[in-house]
Amino acid sequence: MLGGDDDGESRGELLVAGRRPEEARGEVGLVLQDPDSQVILARVGDDVAFGCENLGLPREEIWHRVGDALDAVGLRLPLAHPTSDLSGGQKQRLALAGVLAMRPKLLLLDEPTANLDPEGVIEVRDAVARVLQGTDAAFVVIEHRVEVWRHLVDRVVVLSPEGGILADGSPELVLEEQGQALANSGIWVPGHPPRHPSRARISGETPVLSAERLAIGRRAGQEVADGIDLTVDAGRLLALTGRNGSGKSTLGLTLGGLLAPLSGRVLAAPGLMDGAAAEPIRWKSRELLTRIGTVFQDPEHQFLTGRVRDELAVGPRALKLPAAVVDARVDGLLERLRLTHLAEANPFTLSGGEKRRLSVATVLATQPRLLVLDEPTFGQDSRTWAELVALLSELLDDGSSIVAITHDGEFVDALADGELRLTVEPVAR
Ligand SMILES: Nc1ncnc2c1ncn2[C@@H]1O[C@H](COP(=O)(O)OP(=O)(O)O)[C@@H](O)[C@H]1O
Ligand SMILES: [Mg+2]
Repeated sequence: MLGGDDDGESRGELLVAGRRPEEARGEVGLVLQDPDSQVILARVGDDVAFGCENLGLPREEIWHRVGDALDAVGLRLPLAHPTSDLSGGQKQRLALAGVLAMRPKLLLLDEPTANLDPEGVIEVRDAVARVLQGTDAAFVVIEHRVEVWRHLVDRVVVLSPEGGILADGSPELVLEEQGQALANSGIWVPGHPPRHPSRARISGETPVLSAERLAIGRRAGQEVADGIDLTVDAGRLLALTGRNGSGKSTLGLTLGGLLAPLSGRVLAAPGLMDGAAAEPIRWKSRELLTRIGTVFQDPEHQFLTGRVRDELAVGPRALKLPAAVVDARVDGLLERLRLTHLAEANPFTLSGGEKRRLSVATVLATQPRLLVLDEPTFGQDSRTWAELVALLSELLDDGSSIVAITHDGEFVDALADGELRLTVEPVAR
């Protein structure tokens, strides 16, 4: 419990190690869903040490634990590395390291692997297993894709979107005996992959955007990857994969015309240029709207208004579309992405999965020819996942192109025509 009695409402009794939660804060290690919101200090080492310092542990013990925790979560960076320079997945590991270092009695993790690469998911799972081993700590994990945690948990509780509990019992009981029923109601159940329509796949290749000997980075002199050559074709989806920190998001921003290449070029084919300059980085924001739509890794970085409906209308209004057209597009997208009931809500108050769908929808609202999506499926249950896949599949069949940064193997299997895997092999700095 983070707040006191004034924050929210509670009924019933909650005890942590026999005490009221506010008296047992040091015993509870909580990792929130949004890793951005948990970074506190400017340097990696200090950030991980923060919780231990609050516990008043001796310095030597703290730094020993910090080193162990960073190793455990696979964050192999100098202690002085700036936390502002971390990728989303690296921040997720950082938050977990801070909590593991405290050796809590209760470990609470909210979608701890949502932004991790598949190898990272296993590393983090094993790190948690090691921490739990030989302690009597309790462990609660909130997760859409439960397979990875299955052998670490004794009990699975499935919450219903309408409130209440859909299932509660041993992993065998819930995932096997009740598996089919749960899968039908949109829960990810191992062995029950969501159904989605297969793609029509346009034949022939019509290039839309290409990159030549591209070097990328957030700032001059800090190259993250180089020698990238790629072509994105009409009606095709290119998947960008690779480990956390390999430069996927940086490449996405560069292809999306939002970040200048350090060297080499990104070139739009004539069909995409449509009267604008050849290089997307030179386009005005209004030119970008109908050409390339970029969905950021962190949806909150994208929200501009206080209402879901207004958020969806920002792009179409900037294009000066007639009000009736704006309304029709907004209503269509609300419906399509199951957000109609949230039309009047503040975007920042949505759940992680809803924020993700809203950020995808805001970009679709201006109907750009090319979409750059950074981890589009995180936080989705199997039903909204299948709907998103169906929607993207239709866009592809209509001739749109997509570059999708993803760790989601099922998404790649369902939609990708090609895959570019970035490696973390350090380039000369
Ligand atoms: N806002 C930023 N400022 C400076 N460096 C950053 C920023 N975001 C990420 N980086 C660094 O750039 C590199 C690539 O990051 P990123 O493209 O986000 O990786 P990925 O998306 O593959 O996890 C990493 O070394 C990361 O630490
Ligand atoms: Mg990224």
